[in-house]
Amino acid sequence: MNDFEKRLAKNYDELKWLYYELYGNDKQAFDYFCSMLKMCWESRNDLLKELDEAREKVPDWYAGNDILGMMLYTECFAKNLKGVKEHLDYIQECGVTYLHLMPLLDTPKGRSDGGYAVSDFRKVRPDLGTIEDLADLSEKCHSLGISVCLDFVMNHTSEDHEWAMRAKKGEKEFQDRYFFFDNWEIPKQFEQHLPEVFPTTAPGNFTFNEESGKVVMTTFYPYQWDLNYRNPVVFNDMTENMLFLCNQGIDIIRLDAVPYIWKTLGTNCRNLPQVHTLVRIMRMAAEIVCPGTLLLGEVVMEPSKVVPYFGTVEKPECNMLYNVTTMASTWHTVATKDTRLMKHQLASVFALPKEYVFLNYLRCHDDIGWGLDYDFLRNFEIDEVAHKKFLNDYFKGDFKNSPSRGETYNDAPELGDARMCGTTASLCGLESKNKDMAVKLDTMLHAFLLTQSGIPVLYSGDEVGQLNDYTYHDDPDKSADSRYIHRGAFNWKNAEKRRDKKTPEGKIFDALHKMIKLRDTRSVFSNSADTWLIETGNDHVLGIGRYYGEKTQKEKMLAFFNFSDEAQTFTPNENLGDPFNYSDMMTGERFTDKNSGRIKLEGYEFKWLLANL
Ligand code: GLC
Ligand code: GLC
Repeated sequence: MNDFEKRLAKNYDELKWLYYELYGNDKQAFDYFCSMLKMCWESRNDLLKELDEAREKVPDWYAGNDILGMMLYTECFAKNLKGVKEHLDYIQECGVTYLHLMPLLDTPKGRSDGGYAVSDFRKVRPDLGTIEDLADLSEKCHSLGISVCLDFVMNHTSEDHEWAMRAKKGEKEFQDRYFFFDNWEIPKQFEQHLPEVFPTTAPGNFTFNEESGKVVMTTFYPYQWDLNYRNPVVFNDMTENMLFLCNQGIDIIRLDAVPYIWKTLGTNCRNLPQVHTLVRIMRMAAEIVCPGTLLLGEVVMEPSKVVPYFGTVEKPECNMLYNVTTMASTWHTVATKDTRLMKHQLASVFALPKEYVFLNYLRCHDDIGWGLDYDFLRNFEIDEVAHKKFLNDYFKGDFKNSPSRGETYNDAPELGDARMCGTTASLCGLESKNKDMAVKLDTMLHAFLLTQSGIPVLYSGDEVGQLNDYTYHDDPDKSADSRYIHRGAFNWKNAEKRRDKKTPEGKIFDALHKMIKLRDTRSVFSNSADTWLIETGNDHVLGIGRYYGEKTQKEKMLAFFNFSDEAQTFTPNENLGDPFNYSDMMTGERFTDKNSGRIKLEGYEFKWLLANL
């Protein structure tokens, strides 16, 4: 048996069971699926097969403390794929070992949703390069120890995709790949249970298509047509498209908008059980064809919806998921300067099995949705709608002396559910007068990010405190979508200032650089370390402990973060030892206990204390 046959045999029974269950014992479709897997494996090159083999031996290869991600738009960072290749030295200088290239497949200009409306899953957008350039870039990345992540936009295609074009022309076979309706009767029934993803920029979940005279399901933008995964042909062909990308050397497949891929009338069409079956089958497909590949699920929802996408130990689904609630809670904590919600949130994350790998982030290409634990916040008489308004006002800079400069997103007044856009630095106040405080806050948030277990992913530009880009207002293709405020071109000239430690760019870069180095070399940051909350007795100050103990190597650290702009003193409930035997990891100096267990932090200051065990 060759590797493919061995891996297929290992998964065959479950694969067949799930596939038959979903597709009514459709033997023909299943046989096609299996032969497609074989074909994909056969066309996988030897270098990638070697990588698969190496990774199979170390299944948690991606969970080390040396993995640091960065996400960027090819066009913003270096114009095209060749440009990215030329700038890999900068990526390396940042300590990045995981590069998420934002959508770069062919997409119609002006109707692209930032590349999330794909018109050809096998073709790179011509201005960015070719599929060969992509394969070449990933090969280069691999040689430098960098993994590459790419979106697989599987919920929908662009209305310009060949399938959609043929559906428009009336070809039934292709209409069956989408949700086509002769009139509004069924769409209206669907709408009764469907929320809207983009209530102001793209209201409704269906669109009338002139050419075919029919109504099409379009959960996101009207030009993004939802694929119908009840049709096994769709699933077979889309899985093949995914494996095609893996064969170009993509290591991490980001399953875009995955909760939405199965629709049933009378439900909200999110997170239905069939979605989990599909993801499980895709995971097996990847394990059979390209076991070095990881699935990253994009589930931007509350924790009870996110965690099931890890699957179980025997039947895993995604390898990684976004830690979205911690991200949103971080910004809540910035605005309120009160860490109680964060402690509550972290307590539940810390209680999860260490095998669950989260992708941690402060900012990404999307808006910040205020998905917080409002049941918990009600304990403090915080009302959801009023609180969202406060958060948006705060980050727009409208609240008292807030130094933040963000813009709201999808502000539908009747819903009171607007979200927030802006770069980390602008939200931290770097556009306002008090730049020092902004730099401190920005640095402290990154320190908090790096203290968490999981994979931290930086948003390109954040490492040098890049500000909002207001030019999108003048671009008719972008002006309606405020997410473009934080999708500006990377400012290479400003980035040069990273070498000058007197500038905000230099201060942020330098601190980040130090922290990344520490995280990379200290096993106390590894995913297998224990993590716990340290009670500080001060609601402004968050305390986290980490402990790693294996054989001869034992490390313990205490981390404290002051979310207030004013100095705070506190007495942690952790036994600090006598004499106070810690060193400050950032300065390397011994941390002496001057106040018998009391610690003082300046406004927005943080400390990483390493126990001298
Ligand atoms: C995901 C993407 C977002 C996009 C949407 C539709 O949520 O992150 O940018 O608009 O999917 O594809
Ligand atoms: C515990 C303790 C801490 C200890 C750690 C070990 O919760 O608070 O002192 O080092 O966990 O796992």
